[in-house]
Amino acid sequence: MSQSTEELLDAVPFRVTNPELIPAERYYDPHFFELEKEKLWPHVWQMACRLEEIPEIGDYVEYTNLGKSVLVVRTKNGVKALHNACRHRGVKLATGAGNCAKQGFVCPFHGWRYNLEGKNTFVFGKQIFSEELLDQAEISLQPCRVEFWGGCAFINFDDDAPSLLESLGPVAERLNARHVDQLKMDWWYATELPTNWKLAMEAFQEGYHTMKTHPQLHQLSALGNSYGIDSDGLVLNRGLSARDTVNMHVDFLARLSSGMGGMVHGTEVAVLEKLRDMDVPEDPLAATMAFYARAHEEITVDARARGVPIFDIAKVAQEVEFHAVEFMFPHYFLLPMMGAMSSYRIRPLTPETCLFEIWSLVLRPEGEAYDTPKAPIVLPYDSSEFPEIPQQDYSNLPLQQEGLHAGEFKFMRLSKQHEGMISNYQRLIDGYIAGLESNRLARGAQIVNAGFEGPITDIGF
Ligand code: FES
Ligand SMILES: [Fe+2]
Repeated sequence: MSQSTEELLDAVPFRVTNPELIPAERYYDPHFFELEKEKLWPHVWQMACRLEEIPEIGDYVEYTNLGKSVLVVRTKNGVKALHNACRHRGVKLATGAGNCAKQGFVCPFHGWRYNLEGKNTFVFGKQIFSEELLDQAEISLQPCRVEFWGGCAFINFDDDAPSLLESLGPVAERLNARHVDQLKMDWWYATELPTNWKLAMEAFQEGYHTMKTHPQLHQLSALGNSYGIDSDGLVLNRGLSARDTVNMHVDFLARLSSGMGGMVHGTEVAVLEKLRDMDVPEDPLAATMAFYARAHEEITVDARARGVPIFDIAKVAQEVEFHAVEFMFPHYFLLPMMGAMSSYRIRPLTPETCLFEIWSLVLRPEGEAYDTPKAPIVLPYDSSEFPEIPQQDYSNLPLQQEGLHAGEFKFMRLSKQHEGMISNYQRLIDGYIAGLESNRLARGAQIVNAGFEGPITDIGF
């Protein structure tokens, strides 16, 4: 008799049984890490590369995670993904990024060759092998499942997993409205963090930390917070005049721009600066509405005049649900604001280390020349070269990982109202480890992907 959902979930070690409490071992236990490696990562859509990394035919990039390696390559028939192992004796065919338009992939060991699509085109001394070993399909590179969205290639090792779009859910439409597929890199950084990959992600899954971690933003946040600390939470109630309120909005967005080295683009800040003395109604809340309406309109007009493929920001602000942080389970983030975005991708390295990448993404004027970074600039996590905000976020993480081991720490305790996303995606991981049906997991992912600042919710199991 097949096991019930509850029985399957019960077998997950360090399972989240109380959704408000996350067991500490999930962030360092080697066996739990192995279970993620075996039961989670091979079944999810992983953001393998930005398509702008491989603009020309023959361009390839290697995507690695937990020992797996896939080549994502642009061919004349579109972008393909190939498992990166020579079919003779397994040597990796390429590392990093490059262009193989001339020669295809040539194995450095015995010289077997493959074209861009992975088809074997040469076996040295063919006659020395048994004929049945050289079946064309068998000696060609094995394709990996790949689908595209948002200007990126996503790979999945599971041929039976629901499609990428089914797994993303409504987040895809929300970001399509913001022309996510046309965003281009402004810069790209990477760092190795001394923390579990989930711990690193969770620093970006709630806004509750802003008060202490990013005090410069908290102070300028004209809408204050919704944590019930400042009377009803609205800084607008601090008695600011309408003019001061507008200035505060401009200061906030400018500080966000400099603090992220992007997210609000410099050209957008220039437009916002001109709104400091716009006519505003006396009521600060009405002034806020008027300011944002005008800001959206002026930034759209300015961008269009420069040939930027901008969406109608005001229309999107009205019609499309806004999430300051959009998460795409299991490891990809986009942070929309006006026309630009920040983006993160996180990969596990060991139970207590991970690779964290950040992009600043912008919509560029059509035809504008720019140097697309070919690889991230890799910095130590405590480098002062990181923009202010990621520096602040990274500064807490090593202490948090150490604190988990410090003694008598059994569970993270979550706000059921504001830290719900953390609980939701952690319980989804349990669903993967338990081996639940893939369509239930995809539905769970859709719910998780809408959770920033949201409550703990039912993810379907
Ligand atoms: S391992 Fe590649 S040709 Fe031998
Ligand atoms: Fe932060």
